[in-house]
Amino acid sequence: MESLRVSALRSVDLGVPDVAANAEFYSRIWALDRIADENGTVYLRGTGPAHHILALHERREPAILMATFQTSDRETVDALHARAKGLGVDGLEDPAPILEPGGGYGFGFADREGRVLRVVAGDETHSDAAEASDQPTKLSHVVFNSVDVEEATRYYSDVLGFKLSDRTRIMDFIRCNRDHHSIAFAHAERSTLNHIAFEMPDLESVMRGAGRMRDAGYPIEWGVGRHGPGANVFAYFIGPDDVVIEYTGEVDQVDDDYPTGMPEDWTWPPGRVDRWGVSEPPSKRLHEAQQKVMVSGAA
Ligand SMILES: [Fe+2]
Repeated sequence: MESLRVSALRSVDLGVPDVAANAEFYSRIWALDRIADENGTVYLRGTGPAHHILALHERREPAILMATFQTSDRETVDALHARAKGLGVDGLEDPAPILEPGGGYGFGFADREGRVLRVVAGDETHSDAAEASDQPTKLSHVVFNSVDVEEATRYYSDVLGFKLSDRTRIMDFIRCNRDHHSIAFAHAERSTLNHIAFEMPDLESVMRGAGRMRDAGYPIEWGVGRHGPGANVFAYFIGPDDVVIEYTGEVDQVDDDYPTGMPEDWTWPPGRVDRWGVSEPPSKRLHEAQQKVMVSGAA
């Protein structure tokens, strides 16, 4: 069924050695709000309606443990589950109530490179969802380093209903709603986390957030600039445990008429790494950090 798909990237779960230190960073400096604390796991929200967009679990090594996607209702959860079952996906759980803050009904599974994914519907939402000029609203996207990008894109299309927005020499950008991308896969030799992007209301907010990070001793490792695919503004940082995090905003809103770009459509003039031509290339430190954080379950 063509229209059977997830409708948003809701949250990511990170494993970190020091939950308290990370929770302090993500609340005080990154400007999320702590919403729940249960069994040593801290849950943080943006200003948007999602119950939480980040969960911090205690683990010996930093790792991305899971990405959770929302869909419209329980029936769609069941239909997505039936399709996943038919496709023989790994580690497929039966749909069930989710026993963690935010709740809802959903199921988990793993993709071909061992990334743990979850589909949920009916999870709690916040009615106080007014934007703030210097706080993230929601997760914008997660980028995974992938040993087989085309296979990953195909898999997320078949199982979760994603569509390819753009393919460059470096990455595939895929979407599940009007945002140009919610997931991207970067060509790599190992399956690791590339970065997590948090959406700001606009460029002004990206700049304010970037200034707050600099004040706190976290230099801008790439940016501020405006990307090619998606046209979002960006500022990249290395957060605690070498997790690469991005403030982003103004991502292209697209629909089914969007012409899928191919690598030959996305080339920069010499010396350029962003649309404005103001950004220096990413720092060496950023490149290194973008390869470091393991995917839990990946070989
Ligand atoms: Fe990004």
